[in-house]
Amino acid sequence: MLELMALQCSCKMCEQLLEVPGRGGVVITPEQPIGEFAELEEKGAAPFLLQRYREFGPVFSWMLGPTQMTTVVDYEAIKSLLQLGDSKVIVGWNPEAFYAMLGERTRKSLEDPATRLSNRRMLQPGFTKEALAGYMDKLVKICTTQLDAWAAAEGPVDLAAQGKDLSFEFSTQLLVDFDITPEQKHQLRDKFDALFQGIFSPPDPTPGSRFSKGIEARGQLLQDIEQLVRAREAREKHSSSGNGDSSGNGHAAAVRKNVFDYTLDQQRQEHNSIDFAEAAASGIGLIIAGNDTSGLGVSALLATLPLFPEVMEKLRQEQQQVMQRHGEAMTLAALDAMPYADAVIRETLRVAPPSAAVFRRALVDLEVCGKFVPAGSPLMLSSFMGQVLTDPHLNLSDLSPDDFEALEQHWGAIQADTLRAEFKPERWLQQEGKPSGLLTFSVGPHVCLGMSLFFTEAKLQQQAVRQQKVEAMVAGAAYQRAYLTPFLGNADH
Ligand code: HEM
Repeated sequence: MLELMALQCSCKMCEQLLEVPGRGGVVITPEQPIGEFAELEEKGAAPFLLQRYREFGPVFSWMLGPTQMTTVVDYEAIKSLLQLGDSKVIVGWNPEAFYAMLGERTRKSLEDPATRLSNRRMLQPGFTKEALAGYMDKLVKICTTQLDAWAAAEGPVDLAAQGKDLSFEFSTQLLVDFDITPEQKHQLRDKFDALFQGIFSPPDPTPGSRFSKGIEARGQLLQDIEQLVRAREAREKHSSSGNGDSSGNGHAAAVRKNVFDYTLDQQRQEHNSIDFAEAAASGIGLIIAGNDTSGLGVSALLATLPLFPEVMEKLRQEQQQVMQRHGEAMTLAALDAMPYADAVIRETLRVAPPSAAVFRRALVDLEVCGKFVPAGSPLMLSSFMGQVLTDPHLNLSDLSPDDFEALEQHWGAIQADTLRAEFKPERWLQQEGKPSGLLTFSVGPHVCLGMSLFFTEAKLQQQAVRQQKVEAMVAGAAYQRAYLTPFLGNADH
């Protein structure tokens, strides 16, 4: 039986669409492929999507190799689709290499709603306010070390590299906290880079290909991380037996210093033991979810601030006021009292989202902005386009062809000119014209678990603006916009 979900959007584009009488409007079929991946690569993702949006409206399809990709760029429709939940729209489309690199466990946790929910529940304790408060000392230390290194550096700071360095420190110390030497950390990072490259590569098994290197890195990482977890578990057992507790369960209710420990606590509680292979895969999953996303977010912030001295001045004033009230030591309460810093992060992630789209598969027939999308269709939901171009609160739907031309040229890469025209943190603090909300971290039942952790890291990193010297250095460095999303451009490291 046909279940038809009508997802209407409010944009003017929809009213202009030619409705085909009958069930749900225009039927997108494989016989009507629009465009190809080669064209996307040549033009760049944003111009490619803009051109189709202009021609076909906010829902269109194009051929990504053999896959007909139904793409939605309308803000309201994307939000509604993401909120539908796993019974109607599921994370069921990912490139082959994605699962080859991340394993069957990841496939199950994405494609089986019950498994995903149980994983989410297992991770959640590591992201609560209480958990974040427990991470603060370490977070502050990581940021201070990094800021001191920038201040001591001679010449411009390489923003992309620094953002990624900082993020890898957060990942290895906060997400998993491995007790390793700098040399081991370096090797681990190389392996994660190879794995990450593999995720976004064609599934070419030739020795030496990005895909093969990724597979090899995955095997090594599983072994490395399993060893690290075993060593840590032995240390924990040893120290708890010293305290008269030989069960290994002594920390179940404790405040932990990293996200991974919370997940291990859950395993100990539920099974009275740890499945080390499972723990290694989950450690890799945490780093993949949080490392490059945060790295690009931090790099984008670092690159944006020096373009806007007035924004930095306001940040500085806010920081000083908060320090007068809360003292010099950075606490969660102090960071919460920084609405302008919050707005700057939101605005940066609106115009330069590390993850430019999320992918789903429709489980039921849908009507999206007047177009019929049959059950089984892979869906690409362009959060980037939604939040820069089609958010109804930003009044961008009246764009003239000239405006479109200008945007086509600019949105391919985040350029200083585009940022100067579009970057307005104050939007988030006003009632009129306030953006509807970020899509960068997704919305609905899959919303990013690491969002508050990222905001905490980013606000601490913004303390950089108190160091005038750093300001001069970052201003001199180049920033290359990078997307993390598969097939949407540059995922190179
Ligand atoms: C700027 C930084 C980040 C961005 C842009 C980001 C983006 C996202 C997005 C878009 C999703 C949802 C995917 C979907 O709906 O299919 C997601 C989910 C998730 N993120 Fe993040 N993320 C960031 C940082 C982090 C960090 C630091 C962590 C820590 C490990 C993290 C952990 C997760 C997890 C565990 C999920 C899966 C939630 C679920 O499936 O229920 N993220 N993230």
